[in-house]
Amino acid sequence: MVQEVKGQKEFARRRKQFLRMVGEGNIAVIASANIVHRNSDVEYPFRQDSDFFYLSGFDEPDAVQVFVPGRKQGEYLLFCREFDKTTALWVGGNAGLEGAMSDYNADDAFPMDDIDDILPGLMENKNRLYFPMGAHPNFDQQLMDWSQEVRNRARTGVSAPAEFISTDHLIHEMRLIKSSQEIRQIKKAAKISVEAHKRAMQCTRPGAFEYQVEAEIKHCFMTKGAQFEAYPAIVGGGKNGCILHYTQNNAVLNDGDLLLIDAGCEWDKYASDITRTFPVNGVFSEAQKALYQCVLDAQYAAIEQVKPGNHWNDPHEAAVKVLTKGLVKLGLLTGRVSTLIKNEAYKPYYMHRTGHWLGMDVHDVGDYKIDKQWRLLEPGMVLTVEPGLYIQPDALEVDEKWRGIGIRIEDDVLVTSKGCEVLTDTAPKEIKAIEALMRRSTIA
Ligand code: GLY
Ligand code: MN
Ligand code: MN
Repeated sequence: MVQEVKGQKEFARRRKQFLRMVGEGNIAVIASANIVHRNSDVEYPFRQDSDFFYLSGFDEPDAVQVFVPGRKQGEYLLFCREFDKTTALWVGGNAGLEGAMSDYNADDAFPMDDIDDILPGLMENKNRLYFPMGAHPNFDQQLMDWSQEVRNRARTGVSAPAEFISTDHLIHEMRLIKSSQEIRQIKKAAKISVEAHKRAMQCTRPGAFEYQVEAEIKHCFMTKGAQFEAYPAIVGGGKNGCILHYTQNNAVLNDGDLLLIDAGCEWDKYASDITRTFPVNGVFSEAQKALYQCVLDAQYAAIEQVKPGNHWNDPHEAAVKVLTKGLVKLGLLTGRVSTLIKNEAYKPYYMHRTGHWLGMDVHDVGDYKIDKQWRLLEPGMVLTVEPGLYIQPDALEVDEKWRGIGIRIEDDVLVTSKGCEVLTDTAPKEIKAIEALMRRSTIA
């Protein structure tokens, strides 16, 4: 017996839209993710391919979806593993062919072992073959081989697809605008991650190790039912906060340093992505306060810009402006703000962009530009807003007091019809709120 399958109505709606976009006379083929071995008999945890899951809710490896718009005997076919009693005994049950139809609403289902015999036939006389080009290179090659097989039979009067087109644009534009169900899932992920960040603030102490704080975060994710992190947590004390993708998380936390934590869980295939930076000992120093407030002001200015009709780059531009002004005010940069921005003088201290789309993938799909222009924000889009300042330990050009301070503040933001909703702002980020939470902490 498989678990009751949630959200099948929504998956069916997505498939209908997708079938319409692929259009009669064409075919689309999408492969699942596969099991990856860590070593000998040990596997990495399986995570389904997001596009595959988006159209099916089917959470098994070794499966292929085929969409044949207008096919009388069924437009949505699923190749998958057959139900197998021994597998069920060792690793648990799978849907099997019957489940693929009854629980996942495939019009027809076939064993994966038969795909070589069946798929070329389905490709016959189709004009276009849509597939997620480059996502699974081995599978791309198989598709080319099957197409060739059809082409080899040209003398029998059949033709092979003449055009190969990526499904990315079709599916990713759908994924970019989140449904209310998806927004609920992202909100749930956000809520758990907020709890985890609060817990991290409460249990951080000088002398603890970064991995001990990481453990508290993971504990919170898992006890609340989020099985996966959306990405490996960054828990960087002091100068480690200046390493953008620091994941060693094995250093001791020093009194007087800041701790930068970038961590978010995945809930039911939806990601959250939060960064908070706070003092290891619970109290910001004057220098830390000054830089932190600058980043926080930049974040507020960027969030202000998240509204329908504004373009993707507006929040980034707002953040850069506030950060550059702040760096001048604090003496880390000198010159006219407009010139410094034009010359990107802030880049040694702010070298990344202010956000990315968020959804099933933490760096989610969707184009940022259309016809070479930044795209306009629309209700239902979800993005992160995450400015930072990173003063490297060897930044000899600035006063010593700033060196080795790394700060990022990151929230998840939904574009609404009126403006935006910050989904993660219950994780404290005001200086006073952080210090108050850490003071109140009763966690040993
Ligand atoms: N956690 C990855 C990022 O913030 O983009
Ligand atoms: Mn992010
Ligand atoms: Mn992040």
